[in-house]
Amino acid sequence: MKRVIFNQKGGVGKSTIAVNLAAIAAHQGKRTLLIDIDPQCNSSRYVLGAATTEVAPTLGAYFEQMLSFSMFAKEASHYVHTTPFENLSIMVAHPELGDLQSKLESRHKIYKLRDTLKELSQQYDEIFVDTPPAYNFFTQSALIAADTCLIPFDCDDFSRQALYTLINNVKEIKADHNANLSIEGIVVNQFQPRALLPQRLVDELKEEGLPVMENKLSSSIRIRESHERNLPMIHLDRNHKLSQEFLALYGELQAA
Ligand SMILES: Nc1ncnc2c1ncn2[C@@H]1O[C@H](COP(=O)(O)OP(=O)(O)OP(=O)(O)O)[C@@H](O)[C@H]1O
Ligand SMILES: [Mg+2]
Repeated sequence: MKRVIFNQKGGVGKSTIAVNLAAIAAHQGKRTLLIDIDPQCNSSRYVLGAATTEVAPTLGAYFEQMLSFSMFAKEASHYVHTTPFENLSIMVAHPELGDLQSKLESRHKIYKLRDTLKELSQQYDEIFVDTPPAYNFFTQSALIAADTCLIPFDCDDFSRQALYTLINNVKEIKADHNANLSIEGIVVNQFQPRALLPQRLVDELKEEGLPVMENKLSSSIRIRESHERNLPMIHLDRNHKLSQEFLALYGELQAA
């Protein structure tokens, strides 16, 4: 399963959700690969901490080799690294990804990630792709490469507008490039069950027929500790409410 976590709105929980779901999949014995194509490198750092800067080759090198014709292009697995977590591998991002974008675009490299993921999907049961907060070359490449798209949603009105744009973008990619692509679900993050507005928003989205996941994620300050200690929630505190919610969400994805 090749899954992309995408929302062009920033700070809605893409990296947090990608890393925590990947950690759970790996913990449950799935051969799991996390791919960070965001030049901010947040999910790489979440998993690897300070060691991230020492990891090579990165996805910067991977995309760069597409620009220089070589008879000896390296296999995709050359860019995959182990993590401290059993069954969890990673392809790390690099800040230079941002600079490479326009060159990759002008040289029409938009299908390359699809070919790579197809190759890697022979070796991994689950692939999670964390994306930058923009509808750009990298996110389009990821959507073209994926089976499904998971959309984090933070329950505010600006996010709702962004959501409609996003769904149209996904539909366009599906129509033009990837008939296989589906929207797996909208993941409600930092949900406040006692506030009226978020619940009303969620109800309205459901009434519109949008695939809102039943299992929502609460807000917890322990996420900060989880990031700082480079420990996904199930490794930091398995019994924590948010860990249980991530587990339930992963279970829901598996059941579908
Ligand atoms: N469930 C949660 N509870 C508390 N804080 C959260 C939760 N989910 C995310 N956050 C916080 O919100 C911020 C944004 O999260 P994250 O980096 O995962 O979002 P993102 O969509 O990947 O951002 P970007 O668009 O910049 O890549 C982070 O500071 C993170 O700690
Ligand atoms: Mg992010």
